[in-house]
Amino acid sequence: MKLKGLLLAGGTGSRLRPLTYTGAKQLIPIANRPILHYAVEAMVQAGITEIGVIIGDSGPAIRQSLGPGDTFGCHFTYIAQDAPLGLAHAVKTARDFLAEDPFLMFLGDNLLRSGLKPLVDRFVSGGYAASILLTRVADPRQFGVAVVEKGRVTRLVEKPAEPPSPFALVGAYCFQPAIHTVIANLKPSWRGEYEITDAIQALIDTEHVVDATFVEGWWKDTGRPEDVIEANRLILEDLIPVQHGTWDEASEVVGRVSIGDNARIEHSSLRGPVVVGADAHIRNSYIGPYTTIGDGVWIEDTEIENSVVLPDSQIRRVAERIDQSLIGRGVRVQGQMQRPKAMRLVLGDHSRVDL
Ligand code: TTP
Repeated sequence: MKLKGLLLAGGTGSRLRPLTYTGAKQLIPIANRPILHYAVEAMVQAGITEIGVIIGDSGPAIRQSLGPGDTFGCHFTYIAQDAPLGLAHAVKTARDFLAEDPFLMFLGDNLLRSGLKPLVDRFVSGGYAASILLTRVADPRQFGVAVVEKGRVTRLVEKPAEPPSPFALVGAYCFQPAIHTVIANLKPSWRGEYEITDAIQALIDTEHVVDATFVEGWWKDTGRPEDVIEANRLILEDLIPVQHGTWDEASEVVGRVSIGDNARIEHSSLRGPVVVGADAHIRNSYIGPYTTIGDGVWIEDTEIENSVVLPDSQIRRVAERIDQSLIGRGVRVQGQMQRPKAMRLVLGDHSRVDL
């Protein structure tokens, strides 16, 4: 059985504003690669090469980043969703592309350390109507939650106030075409979305077998800024460093540190795991563990760690250490040398500053 792929790269991304006003959340780079590229790689590794990509307002940027698919060893069909009306609506939108084939749906802002192959293999060998991926979470109230009895999913609830189990749905699902019949009859939920959990519940209610696979290793949904920072930490844990750029004798580079083409490090201390992008310039600064510095970023007289800085930003003379921060593209953060010392802020809508 050969599965098609459905990769979801639409949505609103409201929790990642202001970054999502100017770009897709799935294209936020982690260790200087867009999150979406990790998702495609996981699909291709699971043997999926015919992939439909759901796109919304940020469609042009998604297309430009992914291209036709040859660089990943697959073929993309781009499918425009008129409005982000939910995951089941995305499946409905892709109805013609999916035809009568079984498929794997994967959310383009999800990262899975052990990939998608365990889920796909179980689905292919088991003959189930659907297979979902689950993981135990500390607070299930913000997730879709599944009840599993004797290896079968018996009930699903979206964001329950009183969770019936600790098992949250991870953003990867395998379906037989029977899912289209239940989606055709689905009503929107209280939040106005066509929920995939309701569709799977309808499969269960009509005597279809829904199987559960449990995630091995970590899973990260990068919906909020703190999730992006955490995902960066998890990816950097596995960093295999490559060094193209240079550092001077007054600098100290310790641990796993990747330095991109043409990057210059002067009189600075870098403690890995750290990724520095191409053409970045770091002077008189400290870059601490779990930090990604994007291409063309300038950092001077500043200490930063556990953070992600997107390309072409400039950070200079910041008196306090920057920690746990997500900084967008072309941002300027600059300390004051002269008196009177005061803060001058020019922040986009929905920016967040914690002092
Ligand atoms: P979500 O994170 O649930 O939704 P969102 O992207 O709208 O974000 P927010 O809640 O912060 O506004 O979406 C999960 C993934 O699915 C994400 O990659 C976007 C994608 N998606 C679609 O492609 N179409 C949709 O209709 C929805 C709801 C999400």
